[in-house]
Amino acid sequence: MKYKRLGLIVAFCFTSWVVLAFVIFNENSAKKNDVEIRKSSLVKYIQELELQIIQQEETYKILSDKLKKLAPETKGDTTILVLEEPSGLQQRTPSSTIKQDVLQGAEIILPVIVFSCNRPDIRRSLDGLLKYRPDAKKFPIIVSQDCAHGATAEVIRSYTDASQVTYIQQPDQSEPIVPPGETKFKGYFKIARHYLFGLKKVFRTFNHSAVIIVEDDLDVAPDFFSYFASTYHLLKSDPTLWCVSAWNDNGKARLVDMQQGNQLLYRSDFFPGLGWMITKELWDELEPKWPKSYWDDWMRRPEQRKDRACIRPEISRTRTFGKIGVSNGLFFDKHLKYIKLNEMPVDFSSKNLSYLVQSTYDTDYIRNVYSLPVASAPDVRANTKLPFDGPVRIPYYTKDTFKSAAKLLGLMDDFKSGVPRTGYHGIVSFFLNGRRIYLAPHSSWKGYDLTWS
Ligand code: UD1
Ligand code: MN
Repeated sequence: MKYKRLGLIVAFCFTSWVVLAFVIFNENSAKKNDVEIRKSSLVKYIQELELQIIQQEETYKILSDKLKKLAPETKGDTTILVLEEPSGLQQRTPSSTIKQDVLQGAEIILPVIVFSCNRPDIRRSLDGLLKYRPDAKKFPIIVSQDCAHGATAEVIRSYTDASQVTYIQQPDQSEPIVPPGETKFKGYFKIARHYLFGLKKVFRTFNHSAVIIVEDDLDVAPDFFSYFASTYHLLKSDPTLWCVSAWNDNGKARLVDMQQGNQLLYRSDFFPGLGWMITKELWDELEPKWPKSYWDDWMRRPEQRKDRACIRPEISRTRTFGKIGVSNGLFFDKHLKYIKLNEMPVDFSSKNLSYLVQSTYDTDYIRNVYSLPVASAPDVRANTKLPFDGPVRIPYYTKDTFKSAAKLLGLMDDFKSGVPRTGYHGIVSFFLNGRRIYLAPHSSWKGYDLTWS
């Protein structure tokens, strides 16, 4: 009897414990569920807010542009007050949760201007652009022709007939005034004059707010448009950027990560050109002082660059086929023709590009480079004496140590205004024998030396 009662008590306790445990467990998991639901709706809410901020920024821009046009001469307090950029907006950088496809909704028109002269082969460039252009309204193509070359004009006209491109012609065919000693560089004077004409048309006549600039001897990669459309917001929102370029000066197949590098983008202090995007704001700044010649090297000077960087890809999104042109074909045969065009398209609209914003990049990228094990250029080249896998840093201290390392490794070894090609804070990133390598200045580096050339 005693045992029976004891058994009953034990059974009762056990059942109560089971019931209690069940209730507590259920409550906990309900709480957990509740937290999950709240968390995801909060994330959604934040994303919506960010979307609204972007749209408001766009609207703000459109309205203030309109206002500027309506009352350009007004200098009264009211106008200044309205036109002042709200502090924080300019500095605001895209958050990691902002998907670049938000741009699609923002109706940004990104025209492509193709500079042409006397190459009927422009057909190849135009066919490439038209083949990969996802949307004719979003990416109108403007062909600007210099040189009044009949056969080339005929080719261009065959595209205007089908309304595929807009055709404009540089009217001033007079011989440019060239200083004595520079007569053999006359072509560069013509090109600079043509660029001034074409970009004025884009921004002043057609009133676009940004442009992608290409030349008549460029092939484009299948994801050329995705790349530019998705980096546009970055260019607009990070004031330390002044261009996006499709070109990697060290983009030879043996120097890039052909397996996994197609998504990889960088900041570069070296202006690459060769398929590049700028905003109207930059053109406002450059137009009044546009040079008479050598426009690209002029862009690379500190007075123009003002410490700003371009975005460039690991694997180029353009390739040049113009062996015969204004500069000599030797450079083409030695170097340009080896630059690899990306063939594995990336949908950049689905990529998070916030790592390229200056504040993040300068902390993460530079810190990473200087935390890496050090190796010498000959050891990296031989690739046998390095007892470990993974990325390494090759330090350089002088112009000559940079040059000899670059030569040994097959990199471009020249400087423009003290900046090595693709350099960012002096660091040149490349990929050799399956390993990421950074040719980097000593860690107390203070800036570019203009005398390095
Ligand atoms: C090189 C650059 C090019 C730059 C030019 C000016 C490379 C591979 N190319 O030109 O990006 O713009 O220097 O510094 O680095 N053109 C005219 N008018 C002329 C001659 C040419 O408008 O009288 C146009 C061409 O159609 C082309 C562009 O200028 O779009 C460059 O001409 P090109 O002959 O290809 O010279 P590059 O040596 O490539
Ligand atoms: Mn060319």
